[in-house]
Amino acid sequence: MRVAQLAGEADFAGWREQARLLAGQGVPAAEVVWQVGGQAADLFAEAPASNGAVETRALRVPAAFPALAEQVICHSDPQRFSLLYRLLLRLQDEPQLLKVATDPDVHRADAMARSVRRDMHKMTAFVRFREVTDEDGGEAFIAWFEPEHFIVERVASFFVKRFAAMRWSILTPHRSLHWDGAQLHVLPGASQAQAPTEDAMEAYWRTYYANIFNPARLKVKAMKAEMPVKYWRNLPEASLIAPLIAGASRRAQEMVMTAPTHPPERHLRQAARSDTGQDEAREAQQRGEAPVASWAEAAAAARICTRCDLYCHATQTVFGEGPLSAPVMFVGEQPGDQEDLAGKPFVGPAGQLFDRAMAQAGLDRSRAYVTNAVKHFKFQLRGKRRIHQKPNAGEVKACRFWLGLERDFVKPQLVVALGATALHALTGHSGSLMSMRDRDLSLDDGTRLLATVHPSYLLRLPDPEAKQREMARFIADLDRVGEVVPALRLAA
Ligand code: URA
Repeated sequence: MRVAQLAGEADFAGWREQARLLAGQGVPAAEVVWQVGGQAADLFAEAPASNGAVETRALRVPAAFPALAEQVICHSDPQRFSLLYRLLLRLQDEPQLLKVATDPDVHRADAMARSVRRDMHKMTAFVRFREVTDEDGGEAFIAWFEPEHFIVERVASFFVKRFAAMRWSILTPHRSLHWDGAQLHVLPGASQAQAPTEDAMEAYWRTYYANIFNPARLKVKAMKAEMPVKYWRNLPEASLIAPLIAGASRRAQEMVMTAPTHPPERHLRQAARSDTGQDEAREAQQRGEAPVASWAEAAAAARICTRCDLYCHATQTVFGEGPLSAPVMFVGEQPGDQEDLAGKPFVGPAGQLFDRAMAQAGLDRSRAYVTNAVKHFKFQLRGKRRIHQKPNAGEVKACRFWLGLERDFVKPQLVVALGATALHALTGHSGSLMSMRDRDLSLDDGTRLLATVHPSYLLRLPDPEAKQREMARFIADLDRVGEVVPALRLAA
C-alpha cells in the first residue's frame, strides 16, 4: 500500500505531483491511500518514491483533464482523489475517455465538477457581509458562509476584485479569508459564533430585496432552485420571502393597473450592468447554470452579456427581433455601427440593402425573425470612425449560446445564413460559403438551412456590373426562401 499525503483538502498541486509519481511508476489505484493534512499514516505504508531511483513512464492527458481535476479536487467526497487518480491511469490507455459521458468514472467526475461550480456560484451570490468596528475603530465587514465543498480559496479572487476597497473577512467552517485592503490571508476555519448576527446592513439588504422582488414574475420553484432554502438562514432578506410571496398576486394586479413608464435605454443598460441580485440570476443564465424560460428572459440576460470581451466597447447588445412565430430566421454576422447605436439588427446600409432585396423578392421582412451570429459590434477606431472588424472564432463560439436560445424559442421552419460567419456559427462549417450556397442544408436538429451572401458583400463590390449581377443572384436566393416558406411572401 502507498500513502499519498496532501497538504489540504483542495491541494491540487500536491495531488498532481503525487499522482504523477505514482502513475509514472504504474502503481494501481487500489494500492494508493490518499491522506489529507496531518492524519496518521499507516505504519506499514510506503510514501511515493521520488528519488529518481525508480523507473517512471511518461504520462499523457487530454487538455480538459487538468481543468476537470482542479474542480473535482474541491468536492467534499473523500473518494475524489482516488477517482481522479483512476481516471489518470485509465487515460493512458483510453485517451478519449473523457468524451464517454456514460462511463461511470467520467460521469461521477463531471457531476462532481458541476456541483463544485454550482457551489462556487452560490457563494458569490449569497455571501452577506455585516458591518463591524475593528479594534482600531475602523470599519470592517464580516460574513459567515457554509459552502458544500472546499471552494473558498477558489472563489477568493472574486471577492478581492469586487470588494477591493473594503476590509472584510469571510468565515467558513473549513477556511477563512481575510482581506486587509492590500493582501489576502487564508486562515483556518471558524465558527458561526465568531461572525456578528445583526447590523444596519441587514435593514439595507431587506429594503433592497423588497425592491427587486418582482411579484409578477414569481416562480417559487425556480426561486428555490436558484436560492436554495439551506442558504436562507444566513440571508437577511430571507425573512421577507414568505410575506412577499403571500402578497405577490395582489401586488402583481396593482402593477398591471399602473401605466408603464419607459426609462431611457442608457439608464436601462446601466441598471442592467449594475450590481444587483437580478444580475446574478441573469449571469447564471448566461453561464447556462440557470434555466432561461422565455425569449424575453434570454434577451434580458443577453443585455448584460460578458461571455466575451466585445461588450466592453460596444454600446449595447443587439439581440434578434421579429415575431416569435416567424417561419424564417435570417442570421447575419454582427451589428454594425448603426445597429449598435439603435439596438436593432440590420437597420444600417446593409440592412437597407437587405430590405430592398427582400421587397424585390416579394418577401415580407416583418414576418421574419432577424438576428446576428454575434450580438455586440466589433470595431476598430480610426479617428472618430468605428470600422467594422470581423468577429473571431472565440467570439462566435461565445455568442452561439444566444443564437441557440433564439432558435429554441422561435423554432423557425427555415434558417437563412447571411454570409460565412453566420454559416460558421450555425454549422461549424469554416470553409467557403460559395460551396454551400446553392445547396439544401439542414441544421443539427433537422431545421432546413439555406446559405447566401451577406448584404454587405454586395455593398463592397466595386464593379457596378458585378454588383448588379450579384444583387440579382441574392434576390434569386431570397426568392428560393419564398418558395420553401410561402408564408413569408408579401400579401398580393
Ligand atoms: N451586418 C450584420 O451582419 N448585421 C447587422 O445587423 C448589420 C450589419
